[in-house]
Amino acid sequence: MKAVVVEQYASIDQIELKDVPSPRIEAGQLRVRVEAAGIGFVDGLKIEGRYQTKDPLPFIPGTEFAGVVIEGMAGGFEPGMRVMGMTRSGALAEEIVVGPAALHPLPDGVAAEVAASFRANYLTALYALSGRASLCEGEQLLVLGAAGGTGIAAVQIGKLLGARVIAAASTPDKRDFARAHGADADIDYTQTGWRDTLKELTNGHGADVIFDPVGGEISVQAFRLIAWRGRHLVVGFAAGAIPALPFNLPLLKGGALLGVDLAQLPTREPELQKRLMSELMNWLANGELKPVVGRVFALEEFREAFRTMQTRGALGKMVVRIAK
Ligand SMILES: NC(=O)c1ccc[n+]([C@@H]2O[C@H](COP(=O)([O-])OP(=O)(O)OC[C@H]3O[C@@H](n4cnc5c(N)ncnc54)[C@H](OP(=O)(O)O)[C@@H]3O)[C@@H](O)[C@H]2O)c1
Repeated sequence: MKAVVVEQYASIDQIELKDVPSPRIEAGQLRVRVEAAGIGFVDGLKIEGRYQTKDPLPFIPGTEFAGVVIEGMAGGFEPGMRVMGMTRSGALAEEIVVGPAALHPLPDGVAAEVAASFRANYLTALYALSGRASLCEGEQLLVLGAAGGTGIAAVQIGKLLGARVIAAASTPDKRDFARAHGADADIDYTQTGWRDTLKELTNGHGADVIFDPVGGEISVQAFRLIAWRGRHLVVGFAAGAIPALPFNLPLLKGGALLGVDLAQLPTREPELQKRLMSELMNWLANGELKPVVGRVFALEEFREAFRTMQTRGALGKMVVRIAK
């Protein structure tokens, strides 16, 4: 089968598409023909060996995918079923072998590209906004990096939860993209006066909840405008720098800094994960949530998918189409 193979931790330019044997299957596992794989920020870190946990070499990158079961029967899955999945690695390949816990049945009518870019970002957004911040109807939600993978998911989920969503992004295209997916207002947070704009947009109230996948100095600036009893969600550090927050700020604002780590959700709070996932699947099945698919690339163009994401050029999540 064809697969992207990381033999040495390296930049995407040095990673090759290769012909490799199909993975071996054991009892209790399922073989899935991969139709599409989503490329997230974490995948970019993993191929370079810069993620907090390193995949042993060689490995096939790609953590999120959608496809069809072609071999094995376990956990209610059988050949012919359409599925979406999340795994530690292996999705950028024509086939993947996983246990049933990695899979979720795909509702009819949901395209593979949608399913492959759905679970990580939308579950992160719902876990953050609902599970951690208890975002309420009518509250003001500020989303930083609002056109990125997690950001655009937070815009859409924020609207579904009844918040007023203010999208912060660096370019007109990105702000238009966030508006097109439901944001009520937008801000160019690369401008020095952006906090005055936020104050005006919220009538001096500030943001009740801040969804922050960006980090760096922007995070501290944003916290300074949080509303009384506001909640600032620490999601990631796409800008690179981990900010340091002076402790007097939470005191003065009656505010809270809340960590969000999707990787720990299944083991720490399995019941919550189940509930949030079923809420997402309901929204997906009844059409209330139409997840954003960014650009779709052919498998041979996998490097371009990574580069677009790594050079701050992505709108939504990048997807690689693998089989028809
Ligand atoms: N905590 C969790 O469970 C969890 C789950 C998923 C992802 N994450 C983390 O969340 C972060 C964002 O992930 P994502 O998938 O949303 O990434 P993404 O699609 O690349 O979006 C990140 C956004 O950050 C902004 N940004 C600001 N400075 C940047 C820089 N120097 N380089 C790149 N982007 C920059 C960009 O928006 P502008 O150009 O508009 O500024 C970009 O759209 C990552 O650190 C990822 O590891 C965490």
